[in-house]
Amino acid sequence: MQLFRLLSLVFVCQLSLFSCTESTPEESEVAVSEATMKSEPHRPNFHFTPPGKWMNDPNGMVYYEGEYHLFYQHYPDSTVWGPMHWGHAVSKDMVNWEHLPIALYPDSLGYIFSGSAVIDWNNSSGFGKEGRPPMVAMFTYHNMEGEQAGREDYQYQGIAYSNDKGRTWTKYSGNPVIPNPGIKDFRDTKVIWDATREQWLMVLAAWDKVIFYASTDIKNWTKLSDFGQHYGAHGGVWECPDFFPMTVKGTDTQKWVLLLSLNPGGPNGGSATQYFVGDFDGKTFTLDPAFAEDVAVPEGEQGNPSQGIWLDYGRDNYAGVTWSDAPDNRRLFMGWMSNWNYAQVVPTASWRSAMTLPRELSLVGTESGYRLLTPPVKELESLRSTRVEIPAAGSIPFYETGTELVLEFALSAENGTAVIELRNTLGEVYQIGFNLESNQFFSDRTHAGKSDFSELFASNIHYAPRASSNPKLKMHLYFDVASAELFADGGSTNITDIFFPNADFSEAKLILEGGVKLVKGEAFSLFGG
Ligand code: FRU
Repeated sequence: MQLFRLLSLVFVCQLSLFSCTESTPEESEVAVSEATMKSEPHRPNFHFTPPGKWMNDPNGMVYYEGEYHLFYQHYPDSTVWGPMHWGHAVSKDMVNWEHLPIALYPDSLGYIFSGSAVIDWNNSSGFGKEGRPPMVAMFTYHNMEGEQAGREDYQYQGIAYSNDKGRTWTKYSGNPVIPNPGIKDFRDTKVIWDATREQWLMVLAAWDKVIFYASTDIKNWTKLSDFGQHYGAHGGVWECPDFFPMTVKGTDTQKWVLLLSLNPGGPNGGSATQYFVGDFDGKTFTLDPAFAEDVAVPEGEQGNPSQGIWLDYGRDNYAGVTWSDAPDNRRLFMGWMSNWNYAQVVPTASWRSAMTLPRELSLVGTESGYRLLTPPVKELESLRSTRVEIPAAGSIPFYETGTELVLEFALSAENGTAVIELRNTLGEVYQIGFNLESNQFFSDRTHAGKSDFSELFASNIHYAPRASSNPKLKMHLYFDVASAELFADGGSTNITDIFFPNADFSEAKLILEGGVKLVKGEAFSLFGG
């Protein structure tokens, strides 16, 4: 079966740390066949995973000449976090991925932490060659020696460029382009082109706020303003921001959206991503008044999860950002499908972590103010093989290669529940569903297999409030070998959770009680299962 289209060879750099400024891999060739990958317990079928070793945040997401680029935080020598490189893969559809050699290596300035990439269409940086625009990456350097010496200024920003569609990179000789201003957590640069002001904009996270910068050449940056100390959830450090304009669906109104990852302090524990909606005047981000009311932190308080508006209520969607220059003005998102609470100890052997499914963001006006919808991208329909109707509750189709369910329910005034239950031959169970009385979705992995690797993994059921008040409830679900993703009401409430059953789940059941009635149900096998 054709899963991810791997290059037959994966190149692993053997360069020692801090020794290279150019990505000139000494290639020791490690063959990773698709068959090997498939036989590995818990290796997903249709989620992006690194060919081997450690992966965390998606980085440098940019679309160029027919390719979606996905770079990612990667440590090629171990399955736990370490000296950070940027791994690299490309895709024509965000579904099938081709792995490429590592793009960026640590150098004398430090590890290569999270950041972004853009196409410098006007060659404002001067890095272009032969009339072709360069791809420019902006990332955070993390200087381990500085950290270990107890200094505060060990994170600063650097850039690198590529003239061959991201295949090879040159670090800018003038790095760092933004030195550390005395802030310990000062990282995760996301660059965008501000078409209105004709300038580059950059946002980075600085402990309990974000800072905005502007530039005309991606090399020289001027601080504009900061945002966030009195808004949103603040149970941990702010990381991996993204900032972009969106037109409100069905209107001409433009708003700006700030995505912001937080660790810990998520709604169900550990890492999670919140967002903010407002206006940007070229210098300052001001929240929409209704939004500000929902997320304002009362004087003297810290900002708890109820002051956050969450992109996903599951435990396993973190550090996600959007692609630069996606075609047709689409705003396309992907996150890291794990949580710092346990990411380094999950029971996978040769690799660690997957990315979430790609999602398409849209901004809608609701009774509660502006909200994001984040349904899965339509390209995922190419995975569908057989389609089976689900006429009623009871046993429903489930495919070990992957299952997609599209369910529609009518809700009455009476209390009731809808539960999708997965089971394996060992009696391990995963449940995901909706409770009408509490108006909450839930995901229960407390009996879904391995959990003794971390007491934080399966200690609680995860809940997500339903945002929509539509009497028709839509639940769109994807199940891979080691994950469930729920997109409810068109992506208005989402849950992404991973699990590790001791034998793959092999059957599913739809359990309905009380005032939740099935109106329509479809199951798709993915990958021809
Ligand atoms: C988020 C994060 C980023 C940092 C990177 C390091 O998961 O902590 O803030 O740049 O991971 O790998």
